[in-house]
Amino acid sequence: MIYYVAAIAGIAGFLFGFDEGVIAGALHLLRGEFTISPFSEGLMTAAVPLGALVGAVLAGRTTETYGRRALLLAAAVLFAIGALFSAGATTIWMLTAARLLLGLAVGIAAMVAPLYISESAPAEKRGMLVSIYQLAITLGILGAYLVDFVFAESWRLMFAMGVVPAIALLVGMYRMGDTPRWLALQGRTEEARLAIGRIRELSPRDPAVDAELAGIRRAAEQRTRPATWADLLSPTVRPALVVGMGLFFLQQLSGINAVIYYAPTVFKESGFDSTSTQILATVGIGIVNVAMTFVGMYLIDRIGRRRLLFIGFAGTALSLGMIAIAAMTDAEALDLLATIGLVLYVAAFAASIGPLPWVMMSEIFPLKVRSLGMSVASLANWAFNFLVVFSFPMLVTSFGLGGVFALYAAVCAAGLIFTHLLVPETAGVSLEDIERHLESGKPLRALAAATPPRLVTA
Ligand code: BGC
Repeated sequence: MIYYVAAIAGIAGFLFGFDEGVIAGALHLLRGEFTISPFSEGLMTAAVPLGALVGAVLAGRTTETYGRRALLLAAAVLFAIGALFSAGATTIWMLTAARLLLGLAVGIAAMVAPLYISESAPAEKRGMLVSIYQLAITLGILGAYLVDFVFAESWRLMFAMGVVPAIALLVGMYRMGDTPRWLALQGRTEEARLAIGRIRELSPRDPAVDAELAGIRRAAEQRTRPATWADLLSPTVRPALVVGMGLFFLQQLSGINAVIYYAPTVFKESGFDSTSTQILATVGIGIVNVAMTFVGMYLIDRIGRRRLLFIGFAGTALSLGMIAIAAMTDAEALDLLATIGLVLYVAAFAASIGPLPWVMMSEIFPLKVRSLGMSVASLANWAFNFLVVFSFPMLVTSFGLGGVFALYAAVCAAGLIFTHLLVPETAGVSLEDIERHLESGKPLRALAAATPPRLVTA
């Protein structure tokens, strides 16, 4: 049963990545068919993160009333409608509207799917299942690039292919129940009992089911009032908010989605002349992104969060610097430098700055403000994602690719300072110890000193 939960997580993550990546191969065809200014190109491309911002806000409120399952079903329907509308669009504005719908679905799924997993998964498998979701995002990006490659002549077919994973989510989710925790919060105790039995593959009268149900009900009763903004901004929680939002600011302003959404354009500027080699190189980027996510998952508990972040920011700053230099000087010999830079950049990102903000946002907030803190941090992710994707075509027109990548390199260099001064080491520290540390009023950064992390060295 738990594998069904993992599969749902996988499909939702895949759709997230697919709808981020698919535009990459479609842009040059769209530019040929419609008259697009840098402004309308930026807006149409960034309509996905913009819609996602709205979707995340809406989902945060409605999932408590309607449940996780209903919202994931709604997201699946929106994914399918959005894909069909994008495929059938006859003007750039219709396409922008269709992508807003897709974004809405992405925002809902990106918030509710991890919630669905964490409320259904047994504690010891939770980390693994959340990682599957992460990995699925990168697989979705790769899937989109492959679709771009296969249907290289038709942007309509590229977008239409998004219907396939949407239907998989719809059918998969239709067969699932809601989470035991949500059912218990609604006072639907008997249904919660049946849900636990189903997920654990036990009889609903099994003592293990009784124990789990009692735990969920106890936690539900202890929930006195929903957390407020004032709680989030209180002196003990504020440092966690700064780290959570700050890491997403750095992740997005490192320029990753300028690459993910516009990769073939970047390859074109770096000297790849034919469209097919640009898309093929883009598929290569997708593969590096998936492969290095595995490396990140392997390293994160072994060398710790801070060390991995330092490596990531140093690697991205250097590689972005390489691309900037290559793009500023027109010498053809430097085209290879730009390509190597791009591969190194995606590798450094995927192993570090990609997964780390998501992992840390689930660790640093005290329990009573955890869900509010996480939703504010993920809103920051969408807002900065929108900013980068929207501004990229206009910034390239004004400053050239070299100028824009130099800017992203400077942000990554600032990430080193941010990590040094503010980011705590949470590897091997229990969530309760992190919470106790925050409440003691000591600087969050000093966490490692107060409670030495038990780093896995083997
Ligand atoms: C980021 C996305 C990005 C993806 C690339 C994620 O961690 O939040 O914005 O597109 O990584 O793999």
